[in-house]
Amino acid sequence: PSDHLRHVESMAQLPSGAGKISHLNAVILGQTLASEENDLVLPSQDFSRQALVSSPEQYRKMYERSIQDPAGFWSEIASQFYWKEKWDPEVYSENIDVRKGTVKFEWFKGASTNISYNALDRNIEAGNGGKVAIYWEGNEPGDDERLTYAELLEKVCQLANYLKHVGVRKGDAVVIYLPMLMELLISMLACARIGAVHSVVFAGFSAESLAQRIIDCKTKVVITCNAVRRGPKAIHLKGIVDSAISESVKSGVPVGLCLTFENQSAMKREDTKWQEGRDVWWQDVVPQFPTKCAVEWVDAEDPLFLLYTSGSTGKPKGVLHTTGGYMVYTATTFKYAFDHKPSDIYWCTADCGWITGHSYVTYGPLLNGATVVVFEGAPNYPNSGRCWDIVDKYKVTLFYTAPTLVRSLMREGDEYVTRYHRKSLRVLGSVGEPINPSAWRWFYNVVGDSRCPISDTWWQTETGGFMITPLPGAWPQKPGSATFPFFGVQPVIVDEKGNEIEGECSGYLCIKKSWPGAFRTLYGDHERYQTTYFKPFAGYYFTGDGCSRDKDGYFWLTGRVDDVINVSGHRIGTAEVESALVSHPHCAEAAVVGVEHEIKGQSIYAFVSLVEGVSYSEGIRKSLILAVRNQIGAFAAPDKIHWAPGLPKTRSGKIMRRILRKIASGQLDELGDTSTLADPNVVDQLIALSDC
Ligand code: PRX
Repeated sequence: PSDHLRHVESMAQLPSGAGKISHLNAVILGQTLASEENDLVLPSQDFSRQALVSSPEQYRKMYERSIQDPAGFWSEIASQFYWKEKWDPEVYSENIDVRKGTVKFEWFKGASTNISYNALDRNIEAGNGGKVAIYWEGNEPGDDERLTYAELLEKVCQLANYLKHVGVRKGDAVVIYLPMLMELLISMLACARIGAVHSVVFAGFSAESLAQRIIDCKTKVVITCNAVRRGPKAIHLKGIVDSAISESVKSGVPVGLCLTFENQSAMKREDTKWQEGRDVWWQDVVPQFPTKCAVEWVDAEDPLFLLYTSGSTGKPKGVLHTTGGYMVYTATTFKYAFDHKPSDIYWCTADCGWITGHSYVTYGPLLNGATVVVFEGAPNYPNSGRCWDIVDKYKVTLFYTAPTLVRSLMREGDEYVTRYHRKSLRVLGSVGEPINPSAWRWFYNVVGDSRCPISDTWWQTETGGFMITPLPGAWPQKPGSATFPFFGVQPVIVDEKGNEIEGECSGYLCIKKSWPGAFRTLYGDHERYQTTYFKPFAGYYFTGDGCSRDKDGYFWLTGRVDDVINVSGHRIGTAEVESALVSHPHCAEAAVVGVEHEIKGQSIYAFVSLVEGVSYSEGIRKSLILAVRNQIGAFAAPDKIHWAPGLPKTRSGKIMRRILRKIASGQLDELGDTSTLADPNVVDQLIALSDC
């Protein structure tokens, strides 16, 4: 017990250095506390004892060093990687302040390295060639494969050699449109090995979205597969790619090669649409190439990948990440936020089509020599116990997922979880949106048997890696709070005018100073990069998120404050959905808002005005939704189309979304002041049509 008390006492020290968490002892004594921010969950003594960071004190020391001496802190960590040439002499340089000129971040400039080498060859040279790098679990239970680090390197080299053979050179963009097959990770690592820039497009995007991304980065090569099975359905991806490529060709981007992996469990060769001369079967060419491939050494600031994400205007933004800083940052954040040890088996349910898959399926874990589970299928197929079946099958120790999945499994009942052992689990993780305290508790109590700390990691496509996250052994958690900043990260909360606010407060979340994993630009549009992220609050990076800080210094993310909707952890711009809707010949105008959704977090709610003479019908509703599916992808389809003879606008013509959000969520007594509307009657008309 005295040991236990010492543990409790150490946990009571605030990691922020601001004193003690005064109510901690009360919680330990089992007293009920009123509000969420007083709700503390401690890591067990056993967990903390073995953790990489085991107390608030240890965190604080490391954090303070990272802020006071960023160059020393990060160069020490970076030295654990292989650099062909070291940076000299500066570790980083930055200008985050638009008022002082062009915004620019550079880390380890002048050094040369290769992330694929560091993820594969370096681990093999350290004696881990025989360790499993990937356990691949197919859509159908029983369909599985594995690759050791040495085998993975061979496959990466074969593809790298093939890509070189067909003329892909350093700096060329390669678009990858693949589901969660091992070939997706192999493709990313092969591009990185030869210095090509990969642009992975989530395989749920439509042909139009894929075309848009191909055209923007002017690729000559697309890597895909013929089809994928998700749950009981097979989806013919190659057909989508064909349409996207014809679209790209029309726009002057003549994709000359479509390397297609034959995913035999989903579709036979004979049934695949094919264009001779342009299309090549992966299995026919790649295995013929040598299993060794010399590395292309690249500058730390050379681009590694592009990943498109939604913003508040219609055109997706090509977020560009470079090599050195991203490598050091993803590896370090992975190691500490999951308390990774060499014996761990790690599973992240994200798809490599999103940033989470880039940083925390592929690069972060492999750079740490981790064993990674890659899952092709759907988490509720063949039933809602699939995740825990996989956890038991591979003895998964670190499990990282999204709140939307937690909530959907929670709805199915505890039985699906408790029938599996799950004894291997050590740390759970959450990402994509704020996790509500009840989902947090279910995840903690039922999935983790009240034994596994939860790392609720707040970050973004732009940040490359975790920014605010628990270090699981280091301090008490509060369900729903992402807790404290990662090393080197200085989050601040600012008011409308951009003044930093201290202590207990709410406002806009910004970041002061650069960090190694930060994106460096928006591809081809540095001006938009500056305007979107650095001009709203001069002197800071603006995240687009609202945030509060409680009396103990814990950060609580409250969601987007711009026109971005977060549906099941997927970022969707209202403008993109509106532009897809108005492309429908019968749609005159559309306004899209997000409404709270029990499972998805938010869902898409669209107000649509039809052109003169057309009346609203079920057929039109369906075809409007189809327009969004075709232009963006099924995941962006509105849940509700609300027929709107008119939209609430100010006299200057600006749509008042505040009012639309209230109507959409049925909060009709909170509409606020409608007198500034050009035509206040519009509101009554919309309310009258709510149930149509
Ligand atoms: O609003 C925040 C939310 O997701 C946004 C970033 O989306 P994306 O770039 O697609 O990256 C998702 C995976 C990192 C953020 O601006 N978000 C992400 N993680 C969290 C979160 N909100 C609250 N808590 C989180 N843990």
